[in-house]
Amino acid sequence: MQRFNASIGVDKRLHREDIEGSIAHARMLAARGVIPEEDGRLIEAGLRKIAGEIEAGTFVFREDLEDIHMNIESRLRQDTGDAGARLHTARSRNDQVALDIRLYFRRAAGRTANLLTGLQLALIEAAAGGLDVILPGYTHMQRGQPVRLAHHWLAYVEMFSRDTGRFLDARARANESPLGSGALAGSTFPIDRQAAARELGFDRVTANSMDAVSDRDFLLEYMAAACIAQTHLSRLAEELVIWSSAEFGFIAIGDAFSTGSSMMPQKKNPDAAELIRGKTGRIHGNLIALLTVLKGLPLTYNKDMQEDKEPFFDTSDQLDLCLEVMTAMLPHVRVRADRCAAALRQGHLTATDLAEWMVARGAPFREAHHVVGRLVGEAERRGLDLSRMPLEEIAREVGGDAGELKAVLDPVLAVDRRDLPGGPARRRVKAALTASRKRALKQRRMI
Ligand code: ARG
Repeated sequence: MQRFNASIGVDKRLHREDIEGSIAHARMLAARGVIPEEDGRLIEAGLRKIAGEIEAGTFVFREDLEDIHMNIESRLRQDTGDAGARLHTARSRNDQVALDIRLYFRRAAGRTANLLTGLQLALIEAAAGGLDVILPGYTHMQRGQPVRLAHHWLAYVEMFSRDTGRFLDARARANESPLGSGALAGSTFPIDRQAAARELGFDRVTANSMDAVSDRDFLLEYMAAACIAQTHLSRLAEELVIWSSAEFGFIAIGDAFSTGSSMMPQKKNPDAAELIRGKTGRIHGNLIALLTVLKGLPLTYNKDMQEDKEPFFDTSDQLDLCLEVMTAMLPHVRVRADRCAAALRQGHLTATDLAEWMVARGAPFREAHHVVGRLVGEAERRGLDLSRMPLEEIAREVGGDAGELKAVLDPVLAVDRRDLPGGPARRRVKAALTASRKRALKQRRMI
């Protein structure tokens, strides 16, 4: 039972938060005259000493003391006797653990949001460096229309900016103190919940003691936001994997973030990107694990909830690690501009431009679509890209003169014709670079 019941192996990570919370609680108890002032001072000094022992690695964590709360309290009582034995007045481990995990969550959310802004800035750097690289944009994994590489990177900046917002939102919503909720029904002592909350940097106190000890929504929100962020990371990782293949060859990933094969001497594998993609499995699984723990639990605290920490810590550790690695890897991604440029002349990327050019001269769009479709079919038969077909032949079908059509079919010029807000034209992408840099820095200031 001891081995089964104990959580110290996992929750010792909460030592800093546990001590922080206990100091705020003891100060409040002393200030309200619930415990003697002198005992308050002894408790605080004792807890600071224990913090030092834990930092130094000399503290002995005991499984028979079950969890971090009992381990620290027991050590405190050894040192301070009756004073330490008064610390748990007007408190239960239920509101204590709710407080600790909330404090930990608050830091974790800030840390993850910060890493997400770092990734945004790294992508913005990559985008600024690739402003004039044009490559095929895809739908259905088929070449569609040409775009700036910068526009492609900035699409991910949008995703990671929304992710940053989700972590900051979750943190703001959860920034309230459960301390004083007791086991489930508060306390008979005249404690000052607001004072303890203020001391711990909370915006307010929780409104319902029963909810406060059984609420783990903030962990679910963190883990759900993590699932979305990790899904975005996995999409970016997948693009790095396929773009670095011989088949695409748009990029080369530096040796620092690649590995070799134990058998094939020529291999260079994009392991970092693959691992990021692969870790998505456990991060998604962790959310389902905690949702399932909480599903159908009656109020209020139930020991099931001890199972909240492992999946949460794992999600937080792994997401942060993936964010760090992706951010560090991006400067090692070398763009092969020649391969990107060569790819522009395969896939009839300016077929839409030709149809739209006809429409601008009066043709109904469906008619133009049909005519250009026929031309593409003819190009395919000859093994040519539409942009390499004899211009006179195209002119016979669609009108206009050769010089004009040459510009219409040029994939580089095609990008700057898409000059709308949110589009890939040079000046629009430049504006987007400035706006997204500003937004990332603003989000960073909110952390
Ligand atoms: N180790 C417990 C947890 O992580 C702490 C709270 C225990 N409360 C209780 N009434 N047994 O959930």
